[in-house]
Amino acid sequence: MTPPLRVLVVCLGNICRSPTAEAVLRQRLAVAGLADQVEVDSAGTGGWHVGAPPDSRAQLHALRRGLDLSRLRARRVVDADFERFHLMLAMDHDNLEELRRLQPPGSPAVIRLFADTPVPDPYQGGAQAFEEVLDLVGRASDAFIAALRESRELPGLNPTETVGF
Ligand code: 4NP
Repeated sequence: MTPPLRVLVVCLGNICRSPTAEAVLRQRLAVAGLADQVEVDSAGTGGWHVGAPPDSRAQLHALRRGLDLSRLRARRVVDADFERFHLMLAMDHDNLEELRRLQPPGSPAVIRLFADTPVPDPYQGGAQAFEEVLDLVGRASDAFIAALRESRELPGLNPTETVGF
């Protein structure tokens, strides 16, 4: 059996966008029958909320769509992540640049945006901002799964590949 593709979704605090993306992507991979082929985790580039569950607003809006985020806990990106994960999917350009800055020399991890547009930080926003996160990460998860199915090799492992998420 092919070893799983290991994917880390990354935002700033790991309490709003990336735990939401982790749960949405994992759930859609399960529906697609790909749960055994892709391992999903999330982390933040900042450390303010390490050990905390997702923001209560992120939990509320996710739960309304049937996703329970309550058992997730925030953690910060560590050097070992750049060895463990094949793909690191950033929520916005700041996260992307920070991951590129943190990437140890020689790390094989491929770093890109999760969606074809940035997923805006909802932390200072209202209900609509959290709904938008769910909509955007849902679309990005579907695109990710479609790309995974279409590519003969797992996307992201070949840096010259042009498959976009
Ligand atoms: P996230 O949102 O990056 O989607 O988890 C944020 C959560 C907390 C903070 C910023 C963004 N903060 O500055 O504490």
